Amino acid sequence: MTPAQAATSRAITADLRPAPAKAAILGAGRPKTDVLAYNGTVSGPAVTMHQAVPFQSTVTNGLDQGTTVHWHGIRLPNDMDGVPFLTQPPIRPGADFHYAFTPPDAGTFWYHPHEHTAHQMGRGMAGALIVKEPEPPPFDRDLLWVLQDWAFEPNDQFVPGFDTPMEAAMSGRIGSVVTINGVVPGPIKLRAGERLRIRMVNACLARFMAPRFAGHPVTVIALDGQPCHPFQPANGQVIIAPAQRVDLQLDTIGEPGHNYPVIDDFYGRHATYRLVTLAYTKQQPRRRSLPAQPIILPPNPVPKPDLSNPVRHHLDIVGGMMGGMGMTADGKPAPIWGIKDGSRISDGMAPIFTIPLGRTALLTLVNHTAFWHPMHLHGYSYTVLSRNGVKEPYPHLRDTVILRPKDTVEIAFAADNPGNWMFHCHVIEHQANGLMTVIRVT
Ligand code: C2O
Ligand code: CU
Ligand code: CU
Repeated sequence: MTPAQAATSRAITADLRPAPAKAAILGAGRPKTDVLAYNGTVSGPAVTMHQAVPFQSTVTNGLDQGTTVHWHGIRLPNDMDGVPFLTQPPIRPGADFHYAFTPPDAGTFWYHPHEHTAHQMGRGMAGALIVKEPEPPPFDRDLLWVLQDWAFEPNDQFVPGFDTPMEAAMSGRIGSVVTINGVVPGPIKLRAGERLRIRMVNACLARFMAPRFAGHPVTVIALDGQPCHPFQPANGQVIIAPAQRVDLQLDTIGEPGHNYPVIDDFYGRHATYRLVTLAYTKQQPRRRSLPAQPIILPPNPVPKPDLSNPVRHHLDIVGGMMGGMGMTADGKPAPIWGIKDGSRISDGMAPIFTIPLGRTALLTLVNHTAFWHPMHLHGYSYTVLSRNGVKEPYPHLRDTVILRPKDTVEIAFAADNPGNWMFHCHVIEHQANGLMTVIRVT
């Protein structure tokens, strides 16, 4: 056996087949909805990997159009990144593609298509990807919450016409039905006296969320898969943008037999809704008291940026309903959104700039638009250094950072992973209409 064959023989395998299916998103007893699904389920099967252990997946396309799988947040080789026309050809209907890589970081990640994304992901194709630590951290239980939202017609089918010009120029499609792991959730049963890890994945096309846990001071222990300095979020609001992940520690300090709502009020008082109810069983608490100190997750081997001599770029985010981009030089209507490096405007898959391999990139991102944008870089976890000139007290790693209207955010990363890496807004309708570019590392 060659070393490569030996590695494959002990690899973890999880094959995926996206295809049309029917799913009971609204719950049992309601008509099923026509969806596009990995292995027949919405959300897709939770794929489990182990840190530093090879993983492989054969993806067989059961759709009537091309697709790819993007392993969001994993620092992997560029040719496994799943970006059509950039890192691989789309997988044609009936064809398959073999993905194989070794995840270097433990944490909460996710996967989704990167071709016809609004159409495919918007109809259900997204799943969690959990990379386990070699030593499991001492939680009593892990809960996985894949968050998705849906716009339904009265007949329990999706509103057709994903990625319409109106959705694209504004905030994207925000559905009125929010699900956890693919269904409108019933109460979640908890036992008192336990220490839980909740892995939240925002797999919505465009919906930002800010769940607030009544009666429970939750602690954020990881962001976008990367362990962070533990903190309690301001006002108890766990803000999570499309594509972001938040790992929470929740100690079940509620009363046996009582219910506690989880409320999402991101869009304000008039759009507040109950995401789910935490329902305590009448069982005696598992423990009388829990340690005061949160669990600290082991750090991942992400190289530290060298800020003594970085390669600097300034990227302006422009466009949208109020930010008209007008016409291109040859008189065609410009895309709705754009990213500019000085006077250079992003142009599809052409790299906007190159970072020499081994250098540190320091990017200043400026949002000139009236909209929120979760900005995602492939192939890296970057450090968020500052926001609007204020240094982050505990600079944390992210692969998707929120830019509010008019925000300026500085991010940095050690460019150790060569390739052509997409950098885009994860409001899918924004990405599909120009809010994307490619950063080359070579
Ligand atoms: Cu979650 Cu370009 O991707
Ligand atoms: Cu990604
Ligand atoms: Cu955006």
